Amino acid sequence: MKSSRSKSKTNARADKSLIAEPQTDVETRPKVVVGILGPVLDKGSDARRWERWRPTVSVCQHEELLIARFELLVESKFRKLAEQVVADIKTVSPETEVRLHEVNWKDAWDFEEVYGVLHDFAKGCNFQPDEEDYLIHITTGTHVAQICLFLLTESRDLPGRLLQTSPPLRDHTPDVGEYRVIDLDLSKYDQLASRFAEQHRDSVSFLKSGIETRSVAFNRLIDQIERVAMNSKSPILLTGPTGAGKSRLAKRIHELKIARRQISGPFVEVNCATLRGDHAMSNMFGHMRGAFTGATADRPGLLRSANGGLLFLDEIGELGLDEQAMLLRALEEKRFLPVGSDKEVSSDFQLIAGTNRDLAVSVRDGRFRDDLLARINLWTFQLPALRDRTEDIEPNLRFELEQFARTHGTRVTFNKEAIGRFLKFASSSEAQWSGNFRDLNAAVTRMGTFAAGGRISVEIVDEEIARLRLQWHTPSVAQHSDVDLADVFDAQRLAEIDLFDHAQLIEVIRVCRSSRTMSEAGRKLFASSRQSKSSSNDSDRLRKYLLRFGLTWEQTQRT
Ligand SMILES: Nc1ncnc2c1ncn2[C@@H]1O[C@H](COP(=O)(O)OP(=O)(O)O)[C@@H](O)[C@H]1O
Ligand SMILES: [Mg+2]
Repeated sequence: MKSSRSKSKTNARADKSLIAEPQTDVETRPKVVVGILGPVLDKGSDARRWERWRPTVSVCQHEELLIARFELLVESKFRKLAEQVVADIKTVSPETEVRLHEVNWKDAWDFEEVYGVLHDFAKGCNFQPDEEDYLIHITTGTHVAQICLFLLTESRDLPGRLLQTSPPLRDHTPDVGEYRVIDLDLSKYDQLASRFAEQHRDSVSFLKSGIETRSVAFNRLIDQIERVAMNSKSPILLTGPTGAGKSRLAKRIHELKIARRQISGPFVEVNCATLRGDHAMSNMFGHMRGAFTGATADRPGLLRSANGGLLFLDEIGELGLDEQAMLLRALEEKRFLPVGSDKEVSSDFQLIAGTNRDLAVSVRDGRFRDDLLARINLWTFQLPALRDRTEDIEPNLRFELEQFARTHGTRVTFNKEAIGRFLKFASSSEAQWSGNFRDLNAAVTRMGTFAAGGRISVEIVDEEIARLRLQWHTPSVAQHSDVDLADVFDAQRLAEIDLFDHAQLIEVIRVCRSSRTMSEAGRKLFASSRQSKSSSNDSDRLRKYLLRFGLTWEQTQRT
C-alpha cells in the first residue's frame, strides 16, 4: 500500500510547550533536513513497514512540510536499510532529494567521539542559511547523538532549527505522526532564562527567611551562597561572629536543597565543642558493639546519619586533631572506619562547617590541620556582624516582632516615638550587638513581654536600652568565652540575673561542659578548698549553686 501525505495534527495541539514554535510557517526558502538514520525506528523492509511510524520517512509525509532535500547520516553497516528508506521517501515525496553521508563511530554512546564526528560533518558542509532553511531532525540516533545535534544547533555549527517528530497518538493508525519545529534563537528562550532568574530570586528570599534586607554587601553574599548551594556539593565554610546566623543559614540551605529535590537526606547538626574527650570519635564515626566498655550496641555516628543529606559541623575549629584527620579522609574518599571495626563504611553527605575563629591562626598554632582547611575553604562566606549592617536592623526588628507574635500568640507593636528611639540607639556606634541576632532577639522578647496591651512604649524602650548597655559592658570573660548565657537561660530569666553573677556563671558552666559528671566538675571548681578541708561534697555544693539560678546539671550541658 501507499501512504499518502496526511494532514498533521500539530496545529490542533492545545499544549503550548515553552519553546515550541507555532507551525504556521511563512518560510519561502527550500527546506533541507539534516538527520541520522535510526537503525531501530526507521527499520522495515516488508510491506508491513507502512503500518509503522518511521521517523525519517514520516518527515517527508507531512503535507505542509515540503522537504527539498534530506541530508541523511548513515553508519556504513546500515547502508542497506538506508537504501530502502531512500526508496520509500521517493515514493511518498518524489520531489525530495536524499543525499547519504557516511558517518562512523566505534561507540555510539561515547560523547566525545560522536560529537567529534558530527562536528566534523557540520564543518565540512557548505551551509547557505540565506538560501536554504535547515531543520535538524533530533528524533533518531542514540540519545548521545541527539544531544550532540542539539549542542551543534545551539552553537550554530548547524545553522538551523530543531525538528522533533513523534508517533501518532493512537496506535494502529497508519498515520504520519506529528512534528514540531523548535527555534533555539527564539525569544521564548528568554522566558526560560527569566524563569531561572525568578527561581533564583525565590531561593535567595528563602535563604534570607523572607526578610527584605537592604545591605548591599549582605545581599550580594546571599546571592553567591545561593548559587554555590544550588550548583555544588563541595563543602561550604560559614564564618562570622556568634549569633550572626551561621546555624540558621545552614539549616535553610538544607531546606532549600530538599525543596529543589537536590538531596533527600536529613540535616545533622553538631557543635564540635561538645565533641571532646573519649567519645568524640565514636560520636562522629560510630562504633561497633563491644568496641569499648559501655558500647552495648552498634552506633551509626553523625557522619553516617547524615548520609544523603547535610552535615553541619558548627565550631569546627574545636574539633580534635585525630577527628580532623578522620574527617578529611571521610570527605575525600567518602569512607571511614568506625571505632573498633575493621570494615570501612561509606557515607555521602555535603558538609557545611561553621566557625567564629580565624582557622588560619589555628593552623599556625598547630590546632587545625592545614590540609583539612584547604579541603573545606573552597567556598568561604563570612557573615557580617549586625553592627556592620545597621540598615538591616529595622527589617530584622519587624521580623522578630512577627516571630514573637507567632510564638507568644500576642501581636506587639511599638508606638511611633518608641520605635524611633530604639532604632536610633540600635544603629548608633554605642550599640555593640556583640551577640548579633541573639541580642536583637532577646531585646524584642524582653520588650514584648513587658508590653502592656501589646504596645511597646518609650519607657519600655529606655529600660531595654539600659539593659543592653549594661550587657555589652560585662567583663571580658563574658565576651570571649564560648559559653553564651543565652543558650542556658531564656531572655526574660537572663534579664533578671544580676550582672554581678554573669562572669562567675559563665565560668562555672564552661567547667561543667568540659566535665563528664557533676562530681568531676565539682572537684575542679572546688579544688583549692578541698585541699584545706578534710572532706566536702563538691558535687552537692555545685548543685546548690546552680539551683540558685534555677539550673540543673543537664541544663548546663545545653548549647
Ligand atoms: N538573618 C537573621 N535575621 C533574624 N534573626 C536571625 C537571622 N539569622 C539568625 N537569626 C536568629 O539569631 C539567632 C542566632 O542565629 P544562629 O544561626 O544560631 O547564629 P550563629 O550560628 O552564627 O551563632 C537565632 O535565634 C536565629 O534564629
Ligand atoms: Mg551556631
